[in-house]
Amino acid sequence: MNSKSDALAIGDVDYGDDDIAFGVDIGGSGIKGAAVDVRTGRLLTKRHRIPTPRPAEPESVGDVVRDLLDHFEVPGTARIGVTFPGILQHGVLRSSANMDGDWVGRHLGEVVAARSGRTVSVMNDADAAGYAEARYGAGNDKPGLVLTITLGTGIGSALVHNGVLVPNLEIGHLEIDGYDAETRAAASVKDREGLSYPEWATRLQRYFEVVEFLFSPDLFIIGGGVSKDHEEFLPLITTHAPMVPAQLRNQAGIVGAAGLAAQHHV
Ligand code: BGC
Repeated sequence: MNSKSDALAIGDVDYGDDDIAFGVDIGGSGIKGAAVDVRTGRLLTKRHRIPTPRPAEPESVGDVVRDLLDHFEVPGTARIGVTFPGILQHGVLRSSANMDGDWVGRHLGEVVAARSGRTVSVMNDADAAGYAEARYGAGNDKPGLVLTITLGTGIGSALVHNGVLVPNLEIGHLEIDGYDAETRAAASVKDREGLSYPEWATRLQRYFEVVEFLFSPDLFIIGGGVSKDHEEFLPLITTHAPMVPAQLRNQAGIVGAAGLAAQHHV
């Protein structure tokens, strides 16, 4: 991870270099971006964050993405990846669980292109974060099936097999014991219901039992903002496969967006 001192000045990033791409991570509270070296997964510039507009409807979110790209002087020729917290099938939003419902049926890349004049690759936020963790972070050099679960406002999921992302896994919404799992076990639910870490871990234990039975991963990576407190809850969860905290933390979405954009993985 770069320290402030070795971050490049905005104008010094060479987007003509095939190993440099720009990542944008759209989330419920903030829209974040930075330039990334996709060989290493390191940020080349400082990360910049703009609060998500409310309501988070397509045109206003598209304007914030434009402002972010303008802030970094990202040229139209750059490889740019943009994440979104919903199901994206060939660029079109099929769900928008924690963003404005107007997004469903819209093409994220077309919205961003219309507002910013740039061509971008688009992807699910957890897919980007899981890909980044598997390639550059906690799963680096770990062969086999790596399953990243992000615990935040919702529950995101990403499946990477021997370095290849299988997109659009949505197992945060598995129905378990009659509930959509993310309505019982997301980090936001812990906060909303005032659950202690042991109480929350009991719910997570049930969730991971079902997930492990269905997918048999070789490694679980746990992301989301709460993963910085992993010592409070990961030791309380028992799985056959090792379970480790994410390493890239709040940069994972940006890094994965850039890494996938560089592969033209839309
Ligand atoms: C959405 C996923 C998203 C996850 C994390 C879920 O509610 O359905 O697409 O990846 O939240 O933001």
